[in-house]
Amino acid sequence: MKALLGWLDQRTGYKKIVNEILFENIPGGPRWRYIWGSALTFCIFVQFATGIMLWMAYSPSSQTAWESVYFIQEEMNAGWLLRGIHHYAAQLMTVLLILHLMQVVIDKAYTAPREVNYWFGLGLLFLVMALSLTGYLLPWDQKGYWATKVATNMVAITPFIGESLQKIVIGGADYGHHTLTRFFALHAGVLPGLLILLIVFHIYLFRRHGIKAKKPFRRADTPFWPEQVFRDLVAALAVMAAILGLVLWFDGAHLSAPADPAERYPARPDWYFMFLFQFLKYFKGEGVLWGGIYIPAFIVGLLFLMPFIGRWKQGHRFNLIFLYTLLGGFVYLTYIAYAKDAKDEEFQFAQEQARKDAERIRVLAKAPAGIPQGGATSLLRGDPYTQGPKIFADKCASCHAYGGMDGLGRELKEPPSAPDLKGVGSREWLAGFVDPDQIATAKYFGGTHFVDRDGGNQSRMVEYVMGLRGLSPKGQEELAKVVAAVSAQAKLESQKELDEADSDLIQEGSDLFWDGLTGVDEACIDCHGWDGEESSESRTPDLTGWMSREYMIEFIKNPEHPRFYGSGNDRMPAYGEEGTLTEQQIGLVVDWLRGEWYEPVEEQMP
Ligand code: HEC
Ligand code: HEC
Repeated sequence: MKALLGWLDQRTGYKKIVNEILFENIPGGPRWRYIWGSALTFCIFVQFATGIMLWMAYSPSSQTAWESVYFIQEEMNAGWLLRGIHHYAAQLMTVLLILHLMQVVIDKAYTAPREVNYWFGLGLLFLVMALSLTGYLLPWDQKGYWATKVATNMVAITPFIGESLQKIVIGGADYGHHTLTRFFALHAGVLPGLLILLIVFHIYLFRRHGIKAKKPFRRADTPFWPEQVFRDLVAALAVMAAILGLVLWFDGAHLSAPADPAERYPARPDWYFMFLFQFLKYFKGEGVLWGGIYIPAFIVGLLFLMPFIGRWKQGHRFNLIFLYTLLGGFVYLTYIAYAKDAKDEEFQFAQEQARKDAERIRVLAKAPAGIPQGGATSLLRGDPYTQGPKIFADKCASCHAYGGMDGLGRELKEPPSAPDLKGVGSREWLAGFVDPDQIATAKYFGGTHFVDRDGGNQSRMVEYVMGLRGLSPKGQEELAKVVAAVSAQAKLESQKELDEADSDLIQEGSDLFWDGLTGVDEACIDCHGWDGEESSESRTPDLTGWMSREYMIEFIKNPEHPRFYGSGNDRMPAYGEEGTLTEQQIGLVVDWLRGEWYEPVEEQMP
């Protein structure tokens, strides 16, 4: 063994290197306050290791990035842990760097002859921030996409070269796929390369000058090994424990819905840039130049000049005060930003929506159909459960309610003036509609012109239903059968079993549609078409296929069609017209109203 090592040493001279590394002299003995460098080196090591492993599964393109991160997060063995470690180690690194910077300044380790190394250190800090910024975009989810869009828009305010600079940063005229490939090259190539370079110089210079020992010395000089090494190891373990703790506490790194330029999203940077986000809010118009460029440039400049300022006793004091002020400002602005968001109802609502979308995309991606070739974005775009309520709130909630709300669970802006569409087509909905106590309420025709609230001329349907007051028990029973028959036309998935079980009852109901109810003069057929038979009335809906998918779509496209309300239509717009809703959107809102969207089948326990 000894012979082998000797052979190796002759050819590599490794013993000298090991000696130099392990037996470097520490003036004044080992101390806990010297661990920062090692803790940071450890963090960087973790980032390189996890980063390369993530790279092995990552696919940088706007159509595959989210999908590959989803794969890492949900399918790959321990992928969530890997991604979580990379995510939280990055944040911890920023914090450790800032602590390290503080310590260097407090110990006066930034003055001559260590200025250059102090600058390298600052360079490292900015590099790590750039790594965080570029990394934030890589999952290509809504969160990163919108935050980065805001950040790259900021670039454009730079005087003179702003727009060209922005083009360079986002990789062309449009923010998108090429921004992603560019950021990936920066994040996994250029920036880590620079980082290594800076670290090598940083450590080289650090060795050259030696440790800036804390005085007074408590004991004699000792070598690095073993006591300081032991302290550094403990520090590395503590860092690892902290990272794992964060991963477990936050249940891994979050992945929001796939980036979709067509969806609005409450853009916010990650927490360590929130202070900047808040800071920029104080500058309007031309002033943005001050907030975005001049003041930050001044602060960074001052940071770089600190070694010179620190030569004088007063200067050093100034530096300290300056740093503490920066730190205080950082904490204060971050706090204000989050406090503002917490009180901002619109933001909270948007965030809640985003959270729902993030949850829903997991359900859809796990469905048997899986993620389509074109990428996951189309999954949410074509999902009634996601889009239905949004379209409803946007287009329909000015007249209709959905369970008393606007479809997205918000209060209506004004009282509803058209029927509440929750459960439309179901027996329950229709039973309420033909109930004299309910038809003239806000839930049904109460807000429409069919009800004359002064008791004058009501529509014939309202009049007819009002006439059902005091219906005999036999009549009631018959009415329930008619309701079942009309509702069966809707062919609701949720009512399928019920409809099949009640087929006899439904047949009787269909006959009663023609024959009328006991004790009531008019039959439904006198006013409504049924079963392919047209009625003589032109302003009443033909109830054949009532509220089936096809019926609803055609109705929403044109409620004034003679098949529906004809000229008797109240204010319901015709959404088949150009520029209102697309065919697909109508289908989505209809499927949502019918309660039909993909739901995973619960595994049955035997
Ligand atoms: C300007 C008000 C208004 C808007 C906006 C509106 N509707 Fe209507 N809607 C009505 C009124 C009034 C009725 C009652 C029947 C009629 O007069 O057409 C109605 C009836 C309906 C019906 C038949 C159910 C019933 O009880 O008669 C459906 C289904 C419907 N609307 C769906 C929608 C959808 C979906 C949207 C949004 C894409 C929408 N409506 C937007 C006013 C509106
Ligand atoms: C006297 C004529 C008349 C009779 C009888 C009548 N209806 Fe109507 N019905 C109307 C009119 C008119 C409307 C259109 C809304 C309005 O003007 O009030 C309507 C609307 C409806 C609607 C709403 C359709 C939609 O898509 O929004 C349903 C459902 C309905 N009637 C069911 C029935 C049933 C079931 C019966 C039999 C038990 C019946 N109607 C009997 C005249 C009548």
